[in-house]
Amino acid sequence: MFEGKNIWITGGSSGLGRELAGMLAKRGANLLLLARDRAKLEKVKAELGGARVETSVCDVADPAAVEAAFKDLAARKGAPEVLINSAGVIREGYFEDQRLEEFHRLMNINYFGTLHCVRAALPFFKAKGGGRIVNIASSGGLLGAFGYAAYCSSKFAVVGLTEVLRAELKPQNIILHLVCPGEFHSPMVEGMTEGRTPENLAVVHTIPVLEADKVARAVIAGVEKGQYLIIPGRMTRLTVGLGRSIPFVGRAIVDAKIGKSYRGPKR
Ligand SMILES: NC(=O)c1ccc[n+]([C@@H]2O[C@H](COP(=O)([O-])OP(=O)(O)OC[C@H]3O[C@@H](n4cnc5c(N)ncnc54)[C@H](OP(=O)(O)O)[C@@H]3O)[C@@H](O)[C@H]2O)c1
Repeated sequence: MFEGKNIWITGGSSGLGRELAGMLAKRGANLLLLARDRAKLEKVKAELGGARVETSVCDVADPAAVEAAFKDLAARKGAPEVLINSAGVIREGYFEDQRLEEFHRLMNINYFGTLHCVRAALPFFKAKGGGRIVNIASSGGLLGAFGYAAYCSSKFAVVGLTEVLRAELKPQNIILHLVCPGEFHSPMVEGMTEGRTPENLAVVHTIPVLEADKVARAVIAGVEKGQYLIIPGRMTRLTVGLGRSIPFVGRAIVDAKIGKSYRGPKR
């Protein structure tokens, strides 16, 4: 399914994107990794052997840059056949402590970044008669979590977009996958460990934190099986299932955990 395919991965230089790149390289894919930091991209390319890996420095939040990069890369390397939108950023903190700029930044990268890449890839998929888009959202795109006002909003937006695109693009043989992992170890999570609110930790760490390679394997297996909604990890699936099917029970459990750990913003 992946052998010889042109697979473009935003955020391919780190965390889940990097794990996916490693696994897909072993399966014979032609990879194109996009991110902002050239040095990180080149390091991953070298680690993967380099032969079938290209990189591109691109800020997904900039629509003109994304469109220009996609056109240029497709002309030089061949059109994308699979697009994996993994680029993303996080911010955790009390709503009252989060600056408005942070809400814009997360929305610009997590939501609009995904949207820009889908729009830029679409003409190539249409010309080929089909394609596949894998949007890495989050369990925080299906259930709200304490401290993630900016992050969950951006991921709920990714989920909404993906839900609509799944239905709209399927008749054109463009297949959507929505990936909603719970927390997994990655530079993103390590970067926010300090200063994380106790309430966020109490709620989010109800579910065991996964390793990125386990999440990547679940993504690849889900795509291979043609699954639309991919939720890696049994406990995450159970928690999301409970939160969505019996929401008042999920809310009562969350409220009890917050009640025990509550510290709140500084007055
Ligand atoms: N880790 C978790 O617990 C978790 C849980 C659920 C969902 N997710 C989602 O999974 C995805 C991957 O997360 P991760 O944990 O693997 O994070 P990560 O290790 O921090 O990797 C994020 C990647 O995105 C790239 N990126 C960030 N902003 C970008 C921009 N504006 N333009 C282009 N590339 C950009 C980064 O490279 P540069 O900084 O060089 O651009 C990096 O390659 C994200 O969408 C995240 O929200 C993560």
